[in-house]
Amino acid sequence: MPESAAQPQHLLEMREVTIRFGGVVALDNVSFTIGEGEILGLIGPNGAGKTTCFNTMTGVYPPTSGEVLFRGESLGQRKRHAITKLGIARTFQNIRLFGNMTALENILVGADAGHRTGVGSALFRLPRHRREEAQGHERAGELLKFMGISHRADELARNLPYGDQRRLEIARALATDPALLCLDEPAAGFNPAEKRELMDLIRRVRDQGYTVLLIEHDMRLVMGVTDRIVVLEFGRKIAEGLPDDIRDDPAVIAAYLGVDEDAS
Ligand SMILES: Nc1ncnc2c1ncn2[C@@H]1O[C@H](COP(=O)(O)OP(=O)(O)OP(=O)(O)O)[C@@H](O)[C@H]1O
Ligand SMILES: [Mg+2]
Repeated sequence: MPESAAQPQHLLEMREVTIRFGGVVALDNVSFTIGEGEILGLIGPNGAGKTTCFNTMTGVYPPTSGEVLFRGESLGQRKRHAITKLGIARTFQNIRLFGNMTALENILVGADAGHRTGVGSALFRLPRHRREEAQGHERAGELLKFMGISHRADELARNLPYGDQRRLEIARALATDPALLCLDEPAAGFNPAEKRELMDLIRRVRDQGYTVLLIEHDMRLVMGVTDRIVVLEFGRKIAEGLPDDIRDDPAVIAAYLGVDEDAS
């Protein structure tokens, strides 16, 4: 369709996505878009469906109905690694690092997920593979530096302080060279100073050209760093807008206070 060329280009679009797990409707006809270069907040009470959105966008659970479009193209039944290659990366609510690998190795493993070199050339150590390996090391070093954990490069992931493990998770996601970085409660367990530092970091990530989707419970952090916010409750989108509007939205306040909107 020629007229679609004039439409604003969304990086990602959730289009009427429903996800059912047996009787549980985790996402109920959810639609929203993420614009290129945006920091979008995804908030809502526990069990609202936030992580399920990430799982849908990264091929863990394809939608029961509806679709996820990335750069205008449906993700369809694509598997996780294919979606990583397309340019969507995520961190996990519960840290998932390789504990017995060093920080640097964790990043190199992440980078491999985004590489085009197959097992064949890796086996025979073709020049292209060696070149990518050298570039990979350099890039991994840069990412550790960017996250402020260069001094941890050779430490085993399981020995890192908690905050540095969270930082390493972000570095590993960035190593896949994504267009869209999805962060699932990256500030969980952080003290106020660490949260401020993280806000700063998220802004710097965006300034480097990444688009960021942020799940976060800390309202001050979310309000302070996002351009726009989508609010879920019981799998439904109940609000969407600028941080200042979301803060004052009665439906959002009711959702967080756990009161019935009609009764209040
Ligand atoms: N694999 C699964 N099988 C069954 N039910 C699931 C599965 N994954 C999620 N759910 C259910 O879907 C709903 C949404 O869960 P989800 O983890 O997306 O919530 P969330 O908004 O991330 O919550 P939290 O803030 O606690 O992390 C919940 O009722 C949850 O129990
Ligand atoms: Mg969650």
